[in-house]
Amino acid sequence: MIQIQTSSIYRISQALKVASGCLAIVVLAVSGLARAEPIGSDALTKSIPTTFEFAASQYGRLLAGAKEDPKIPRTLEGGKVKTVAPKDWTSGFVAGSLWYLYEFSKDQRWLSAATDYTLRLDSIKDYRGSHDVGFMLGCSYGNGYRLTKNPAFREVILKGAESLASRFNPQVGAIRSWDHKGWNYPVIIDNMMNLEFLMDASSEGHVERYREIAIAHAEKTLRNQFRADSSSFHVVDYNPTNGEIIAKKTHQGAADDSAWARGQSWALYGYTMMYRKTKNQAYVTQAARIAEFILNHPRLPTDKIPYWDFDAPGIPTAPRDVSAAAVMSSALIELSGMVGGEAGKKYLNSAKQQLVSLSSPAYLAKPGENGNFILMHSVGNFPANSEIDVPLNYADYYFLEALLRYQQLKKS
Ligand code: GLY
Repeated sequence: MIQIQTSSIYRISQALKVASGCLAIVVLAVSGLARAEPIGSDALTKSIPTTFEFAASQYGRLLAGAKEDPKIPRTLEGGKVKTVAPKDWTSGFVAGSLWYLYEFSKDQRWLSAATDYTLRLDSIKDYRGSHDVGFMLGCSYGNGYRLTKNPAFREVILKGAESLASRFNPQVGAIRSWDHKGWNYPVIIDNMMNLEFLMDASSEGHVERYREIAIAHAEKTLRNQFRADSSSFHVVDYNPTNGEIIAKKTHQGAADDSAWARGQSWALYGYTMMYRKTKNQAYVTQAARIAEFILNHPRLPTDKIPYWDFDAPGIPTAPRDVSAAAVMSSALIELSGMVGGEAGKKYLNSAKQQLVSLSSPAYLAKPGENGNFILMHSVGNFPANSEIDVPLNYADYYFLEALLRYQQLKKS
């Protein structure tokens, strides 16, 4: 187990060596943070343009390699880039990353690529088979509309929101996550992320019902998905007729009662975002509790890149999940501004440490490697022996988002 209270660099480096063989650069970078340079003139801010240039060169090669393929790059499998159809839950992230590259650079090349990958998902506006419509259309069309105000994007967003809202059951008071066999009415913590799309569609289309559904879902999740220590269960399965809880389980975590790392990240991001959208104090309070659970956890490594589950067997040699860290860092930056004070400083400093770690050679790919994705070392679904220690398109997306958010801080 890695102790996070260690103060000497020697002991930090020893601990990191146990966790991963090549983290010396992270140690130097993280220890440099102690100097607490002001945002805007700190090393992380200065490194962001270089990281974006690198991301652009990777994604340039990624798209060139997938030119003949109408599908969307998701990960690296057997040494080849695996691409997926629009109905895959990750289909919106490449378009989203391309929008972030465009937002950063204002380069027409990224506008055109982002538009291309966004339009590939047009059919999803009518897809009623999964809660992930929010991820798919929010990251692609949502970012596209935010940056271009293209009215055709708006149409897709409003239709897509209707499809997502069709999965809400008032008896349960939540949106159904999956239609998979073996569940009655599963609601997963990840589903908090789809609420942003509904909230945006509600204000854009003046449809109050979407907002009501999103809030009902957030309330139900707040009541039932969390443990006393503010960690979350992955899945709560409800009785669809009366809304009673049937079971609290995991699907991607180490155990039903474990803290699956990406699940904690979705929860953190979800309640931070819902506070932004509603100003309901209960949501920011919950987000801060989740942040405390994560950041005070004795098994959060010193470089703040979590293991795939906080209770994973085999820690400290269990795989890390970079995707969980990327989502966390983006959420912590936003949360830091909401809570302010010492807690806010702690959240921002933690996000900064995560971004410094992710921007280092321990996690950032080498040019032309890693299937041309940006970040290495994520975990998709460990219990299913699927996507372990691989690049994932959503890790890249939230990393770029977090860097943009960090860069934005110096302007605010
Ligand atoms: N929403 C699916 C996952 O986080 O793996």
